[in-house]
Amino acid sequence: MKRLFITGGSGLLGSKFQYVAGDTHEIITTYHKNPGENSVQFDVTNEKDVAEKITSLNPDAVVHAAALTNVDYCEDHPDEAWNINAKGTDNVAKACEKVGSKLVYVSTDFVFDGERGMYREDDETNPLGHYARTKLEGENFLKEHHDLNYAVARVSVLYGWHTRMNFVTWVINELKNGNEINIVTDQYNSPTLADNAAEAMIKIIEMDKTGVYHTVGDERINRFDFAVNIAEVFDLDSSLINPIKSTNFVQKAKRPKDSSLNVEKVQKDLGIKMLNTKEGLKYMKKVMK
Ligand SMILES: NC(=O)c1ccc[n+]([C@@H]2O[C@H](COP(=O)([O-])OP(=O)(O)OC[C@H]3O[C@@H](n4cnc5c(N)ncnc54)[C@H](OP(=O)(O)O)[C@@H]3O)[C@@H](O)[C@H]2O)c1
Repeated sequence: MKRLFITGGSGLLGSKFQYVAGDTHEIITTYHKNPGENSVQFDVTNEKDVAEKITSLNPDAVVHAAALTNVDYCEDHPDEAWNINAKGTDNVAKACEKVGSKLVYVSTDFVFDGERGMYREDDETNPLGHYARTKLEGENFLKEHHDLNYAVARVSVLYGWHTRMNFVTWVINELKNGNEINIVTDQYNSPTLADNAAEAMIKIIEMDKTGVYHTVGDERINRFDFAVNIAEVFDLDSSLINPIKSTNFVQKAKRPKDSSLNVEKVQKDLGIKMLNTKEGLKYMKKVMK
């Protein structure tokens, strides 16, 4: 049984590995401030701690999902964001290279500027905000570790059941409470069921793939249409969802207009189906019952 070390195990994506691969792999997860069951405390900015934990556990592979993910907070706290997302990734990479563990680094669709959409893995990156820049710097750090066996798995608008809210669970909650919500019609992504992304990452490890993979949902969709799909699948009132333009919804950090990603490579190379939003939402509804 392969031993996997999952950083960010208390987060949405990291929490899915036990569920998706717990029967076939030994899963060790980490938390930073929110302790979980069978989870190890870990601060990715502490180079010594990272080296000691990874050396003593000696995992076959590490999935590095821990990050400072609040895009607007990162804009206001650039040094903290860089230390966690960029330097933290370098710390993990250094330790993995030393012990010979494979590394899967979780990155983001925001590495692209969103002028075009449906980006392929080798398309040129051009991050707009500080969060995205620090995540891309994380990707770039990996290239400096010449003996490291690694892959980059980019995800987009993660959703799924979790103790903390994400877009889907927030929309469900608001509509259930009869609240009107304003959702933008002019921002496109490839929403990604966290369970499906974790499954793809397990395949990357099992098949020992390297390079960049777009482990996202198989659909380019705007936030408003995504919210309407949520209402439909969960039998909620979609008339409570008001369409608005992003110019009416001021956010601190600039977002790409269309950071949807192409999934041809991931589906072909890994032989996996990446789910569209209706399929992902139906999966959530099924596992809820
Ligand atoms: N969410 C999205 O829509 C999205 C989109 C594109 C890419 N991504 C990428 O996907 C990955 C997973 O995202 P997610 O939404 O699942 O994350 P999340 O739910 O926000 O969780 C973040 C995780 O990182 C941990 N963490 C934060 N600071 C840390 C530190 N200094 N040292 C160690 N761990 C630390 C947190 O630990 P505690 O909670 O215990 O403090 C938590 O486990 C991230 O790399 C993110 O950049 C996410």
